[in-house]
Amino acid sequence: MKRSILAFLLCLAMIFTFVPEVSAVFQERPGETLLYNFTFSPEEKADIERFFTPNEAVEIEWVSGIGVGHGDDHALRVENIDKVNFTSVHNVVRLTLPEPLPLGYEYRVFAWIYAPEEGNDDKRNMRGPNICINNNYEGDLGVSKFPADYGGLTLGQWRSMDAVIPVQTTETTVIDFRLYTNNAREHPNIWYWDNIEIWQGAHDENIRVPEWDLSLPSLAETYSDYFLIGNIMTPNSNWFNAHTDAFLHHFNAVTAENSMKPVYVALESGQYDFNGADTVVKFGEDNNIPVHGHTLIWHQQSADWLTTDPDGNPLTRDEARENMQSYITAYAGRYAGRIASWDVVNEAFDNSVADGTNWKSGMRTASPWYKAYANGTDRDAGEHPSDYIYDAFVFTRLAAPDAVLFYNDFNEEEPGKRNAMAGMAEDFNVKWETDPRNTEPGRKLIEGMGMQSHYWTDNLNPADVRDSIQRFVRAGLRIRITELDIPFGNYGNYRSRTTEPTEAELIVQAKLYESLFKIYIDFAEHIDAVTIWGLTDPMNWRGSGYPVLFDEFQSAKPSFWSIIEVVDPGAYDRFMGTQPSDSESTSAPAPDHPDGTLIQPVPDEPDEPHESDAVSSGFPWWGFALIGVGVAILVAFLAITVIKNKKAAK
Ligand code: XIL
Repeated sequence: MKRSILAFLLCLAMIFTFVPEVSAVFQERPGETLLYNFTFSPEEKADIERFFTPNEAVEIEWVSGIGVGHGDDHALRVENIDKVNFTSVHNVVRLTLPEPLPLGYEYRVFAWIYAPEEGNDDKRNMRGPNICINNNYEGDLGVSKFPADYGGLTLGQWRSMDAVIPVQTTETTVIDFRLYTNNAREHPNIWYWDNIEIWQGAHDENIRVPEWDLSLPSLAETYSDYFLIGNIMTPNSNWFNAHTDAFLHHFNAVTAENSMKPVYVALESGQYDFNGADTVVKFGEDNNIPVHGHTLIWHQQSADWLTTDPDGNPLTRDEARENMQSYITAYAGRYAGRIASWDVVNEAFDNSVADGTNWKSGMRTASPWYKAYANGTDRDAGEHPSDYIYDAFVFTRLAAPDAVLFYNDFNEEEPGKRNAMAGMAEDFNVKWETDPRNTEPGRKLIEGMGMQSHYWTDNLNPADVRDSIQRFVRAGLRIRITELDIPFGNYGNYRSRTTEPTEAELIVQAKLYESLFKIYIDFAEHIDAVTIWGLTDPMNWRGSGYPVLFDEFQSAKPSFWSIIEVVDPGAYDRFMGTQPSDSESTSAPAPDHPDGTLIQPVPDEPDEPHESDAVSSGFPWWGFALIGVGVAILVAFLAITVIKNKKAAK
């Protein structure tokens, strides 16, 4: 008896240890359809060779030989040409699909990869593989590389990749097969792909495809009597395909989210990459909307050579100044007359400034610009490390005299910081009055304050924002709200948030946006533009806090409607009343009540699935049954053992 129980338990143990191995390879899911299956056999070659192309740094070859493939004798061999450049976009095999993958489905891409020991013996810590769709390497959307958890690659062992491409807003036309790492020591020189399969997911009526509703009232039009309404962009084809129309519907000012920052532009001394900036500027020109340049001088996303020597030590003040001059002259000069305004210097103050009366004591001393300018400062001659800010504004003025020049910072609503920012601008503007390079008496050097406006729902007090605007106006400055977003929660907790916002939270957020826009309107004659930092919640850098005006389905949130209703009361009712069929595309609206409160809307979304449903849909019923049987047998076995032991003890 005891032996048979043991045997049975052994069988169970084998079943359970066997299951994970099975799940490590591709398992078809119900309703999936196999669209493509590339085995790289010689018969296929003529047909599909043209769909696979090498990118710049690699050569590809269809190879046959005993055992070279995964489970057969054929594979696609890839070799890095110079063994130096392993950067991802150049280092991939590209599959250009004969037909774009239709929208409205999930897709699974399954493939095998192998790096032989021979030719790769100096390699270690290889990571990957994954895929990148539609050539979207910049990754700001954060959704184009799959899977996110790619794992490692061991020399001499085939491994599989199972990547899910979630429902997209633009058709997938190109899939790049790649290894995650860019580093020469971590990336094989030679590798093989085989058995690439592309599966279309089951048709799911409940899958909601993100979609812009261009019949909504336009933000920019609604605010046309007051100021421009801007947003950010990422110049890649995905962005253009998916969001251009919506952008132009709602916004009439544009800022590059990242691609105009020094690190992407100022590669080396005298060597610039203006591709990203050119695209953004052209987008503005083609569509007749002003480009706000962000940003020339910043401690983050900067280029080391500007401020730091190859050993990581600060350059001298004179060296850094010379670099700054050549860089700003080349960059701002290139776009003179084409970029309407610049954030010349970004975030030169500490995160918070307790006492703003002596602005120099509030400087961000850890900035590489500050450190370089501190290296060789002659304080007796009146020099100070913060002079880099003045220099940056002067160089920009001289290179691009038509552009309106802004200083940009965050926590700008705090009293200490606002006073420091205003005080600095006032001092530099006085200094400029007698600067011999100033050819426009009466025009300020620092003409405006960029209020980043990265707030939180927990602790934003709109009255502070009003006070800051007032302080900046007193300093004679224009105002730009440059990066507005309001995630739920606070600095300490918004990142770890995993739950969808509740209706009540959405209303709280909408009310904050409403209060801010009422203040902006009060000061409209001083405000050039209000720029929202991100088109949709998941596209925002603090997306886990659901911070902006459109949700992941690109539907208007209560925050959108609350902003519209500040200028156009009743717009929501009118819109919903005249177009009832469009109501589904508008989640959780927040109409403004005559008494000023926001009505909590009735949710029109289906209920969230209950937890038990979610669990059972992910794990097969027979799995639970097996576990149940296993547990029962284990209990029985333990009981028998205990009884026997007791008997033996007697
Ligand atoms: C952020 C971008 O949104 C992110 O994509 C990037 O990874 C980091 O920078 N203040 C600024 C902006 O001035 O440039 C920052 O943008 C957000 C904070």
